[in-house]
Amino acid sequence: MITENSLDQLLSVVAIEQVVGDYVTLRKSGSRYTGLCPFHDEKTPSFSVTPSMGIYKCFGCNKGGNAIQFVREIENVTFVEAARQLAERYGVELIETGNRLDDDQYQELQRRKEGLQVVLDYAQGFFQQQLNDTEEGAIGLSYFKERGYSKETRSYWGLGYSPSAWDALLKDAEAKGYKKEKLQEVGLVKQNDKGNWYDLYRGRVIFPLKTPSGKIVGFAGRKMDKAENSPKYVNSPETELYKKSDFLYGVFEAKQAIGKEDNTYLVEGYTDVITLWQSGIRNAVASSGTALTPGQIKLIRKFSANITVLYDGDAAGIKASLRGIDLLLAESLNVKVVALPQGEDPDSFCQKLGGEAFGEYIKEEAQNFIFFKAQLLLDQAAGDPIKKSEAIKDVLQSVSLISDSIKRSVLTRQLAAICQVEEAVLTQELGLLLRKSLRDDKNSDALVKQAGSLLGQGAWVLPEDAFSERHQEAALFRLFLLYGNQELKSGQSVLDYTLDSILDGEEAKDQLGDLLKTELFQRIWTDMLSFRVRNKDTELANRWPEPSFYIHHEEAQVSAWAADVLSRQYVLSPTFEEHYIYIKEESDSVQIVQSIEAIVANWKRIKVEKDIQEALFMLETAEGEEQEHLMSYLLHLNGIKLNISKSMGTALSGTGFGNKPAQA
Ligand code: GTP
Ligand code: MN
Repeated sequence: MITENSLDQLLSVVAIEQVVGDYVTLRKSGSRYTGLCPFHDEKTPSFSVTPSMGIYKCFGCNKGGNAIQFVREIENVTFVEAARQLAERYGVELIETGNRLDDDQYQELQRRKEGLQVVLDYAQGFFQQQLNDTEEGAIGLSYFKERGYSKETRSYWGLGYSPSAWDALLKDAEAKGYKKEKLQEVGLVKQNDKGNWYDLYRGRVIFPLKTPSGKIVGFAGRKMDKAENSPKYVNSPETELYKKSDFLYGVFEAKQAIGKEDNTYLVEGYTDVITLWQSGIRNAVASSGTALTPGQIKLIRKFSANITVLYDGDAAGIKASLRGIDLLLAESLNVKVVALPQGEDPDSFCQKLGGEAFGEYIKEEAQNFIFFKAQLLLDQAAGDPIKKSEAIKDVLQSVSLISDSIKRSVLTRQLAAICQVEEAVLTQELGLLLRKSLRDDKNSDALVKQAGSLLGQGAWVLPEDAFSERHQEAALFRLFLLYGNQELKSGQSVLDYTLDSILDGEEAKDQLGDLLKTELFQRIWTDMLSFRVRNKDTELANRWPEPSFYIHHEEAQVSAWAADVLSRQYVLSPTFEEHYIYIKEESDSVQIVQSIEAIVANWKRIKVEKDIQEALFMLETAEGEEQEHLMSYLLHLNGIKLNISKSMGTALSGTGFGNKPAQA
C-alpha cells in the first residue's frame, strides 16, 4: 500500500497533459487540452485534459480520472504499478507501507539500468561525432549521402559511424572512464579467445534504437559494402533496457504523426522508415524484418487503431506473413495492406516516385486486409474448387478474429461478392468458426469452469447458465458467506475489498442492492446491511456477519442456501464437456481475490453483452443519425467488452483451478 500522503505529493508534481500527451495528440483550447480519446474509437475529439485540476475526462466513453488512473488504464497495469511509473518519471519517492520483498532488487535493477543507459548515451555521442567530425567519418557520410539522406535527416535520426579500427570505441571509452564490462553488456565490445577486446560495430554506419520515449537502448550497424562474408546488420543484444520482442524502430520519432494521421505505416527496414520520413511521410515504423509480436502490436495500438502494412514487391514472404496480420486483427486494429510493385521496397519506390507521389500511391492502393488476403488466396486457387473453398475458410478465419460484429457483417457481405458465394453460406460458416473460437478460447473456457465451480449450489451447470447473472450473484455471495471477514494482506476484509476496490464507480456499495437480480440475494444483502447498522456501536462494528448468521437465519431459504454452500465448501462441480473442477485451498487470500475479480469482471461482461444485444436490436430499425449514433455506441461497448475480457485474462491466470477428476 502506498500512503495517501505520498500519492497526493506525486499527483501534485505530475503534469497530466505531459503524461496524456505521450499517448494522445493534444490541442490547447483555453485552459484545457482536447484530443481524440485513446480509449474508444472516435473521429471528433471528446477527450479533454484539465491541468489545473490534474484530470482527464472523455465525454464520449465517460472514462476519466487522474494521471495515475490514466496510466493504469492505458498501460493496463495495476494502480500501484502506475503510481510507481509516474513516481520514477517525476522523481518522487513513494512511501509504501508494508514490506515489498523485491524492494532491494527493484533498487538494484534501477541502478543497473542507469549504468547501462550512461554507456549507451556515451556511445551514441561517440558514433555521431565520428560521422560528423572526423576524417574517416567521411566514408559514412558519403554512404548516407548516396542514399539521399540530408543533414537534417541524419541529425534527426541520430545516425552515426563506427570507425574500422579494432578498438576505436573501446579506447575512447576507457580514456573517458567507462568500463569495458558495461560496453560488453550492451554489445558494443567483445573479448576474443586470446583475451583481446575489440569493437563489434567496426566500419559500419550506425542507427540508434530508441524507446518510445526517446531513450537510446541499442544500435544497429549496417555494413557499407556488398561483401557476402559479414552480416548486413549487427544489432544490440537484449538487455534490461532493450527487449527485442517489444521493439519497433521509429516509434519515438513517429508517434506524434501517427496520432495526428490516425494511422501507422508498417515497413520492414530502418532505411524505409528514414526515407519515408525525409519524404514527409512521418508515421512509419519498422518491424526490423521479423514477424510481428504481441508486444509490438500493443505498442502500435496505443497510438492509433489503424495500420497499413507496406509489403516489398518481391516479398515471397507475403503469404507467410498473413498469419502475423491475424494477430493485428485479433487486437482490434483496422488493417490495410499495400503490395509494392515487383522488386521495390518502400525506400526504393519512394525515392523513385518522390514523396508526394509515393504518399498518394500508398493511400490509393491501400486495401482492406481481408479483401487483399481473399484476392491473393483466390488467385492462387483459380480453377480448383477445393482450393477455393479452403481459401474462403482461411479468409473467414481472419474475419472471425474481428471483435466488432458490425464490421464482420459488412466484410462478409463484400466478401461474398468477391468470392462469388452466397452471403448466407459465408455467414453460416463464420458462425461455426466463431462458436469454435469461443470454445477454444482459454479465457472463456476457464471462465465457464470457474463460474460453475464457484456456485456452491446445483452441481450441474450448463455453459450458457454459467454465464448468467444469477450464477454470478451466487458465486459472489458464496464468497461473502465463506470468507467475508477474512483479512487480506492489506488489512481489509474480503468483503470490504470487494465493495471498495472492485465494485467501483456505478457499482458502488449503496447500489449493489439495485444491481442484484435474484430475490434471495437481494434479501441477504439487505440483512447484511442492517446487521452493520445494528452493530455499529458494538465490538462487531465494521465486521460482516459470520456463517452462523446465515445458517440460523429466520428465512428458510437463506439458511438452506447457507447450509448448501457450507456443505459444499470444496465443491466438485462437473461443468460441461467433462471438465471437472476441484477447488483446492480456496481460502488462500490471493485465490479469493482472484475469484472475486473474475466474478465481477464476468458480471460486467454480461451487462455489456446485454447492452450490445439491445443496441443491435435497435440498429435493425434505426436510420440516419440514430443509426450512426448506435454504431458508435456499439464500438464503444465493444471497447469496454475487450477491456473486460483483458482484465478477465489477468484475473483468471493462476487461479489454481485444475481439471481433476470429480471424486475426491
Ligand atoms: P537496405 O537494404 O540498405 O535498404 O537496408 P534495409 O534496412 O532496408 O534492410 P532489408 O530490407 O534487407 O532488411 C529489413 C530489416 O531487416 C532491416 O532494417 C533490419 O532491421 C533487418 N535485417 C536485415 N538484415 C539483417 C541482419 O543481417 N541482421 C539483423 N539483425 N537484422 C537484419
Ligand atoms: Mn531496404
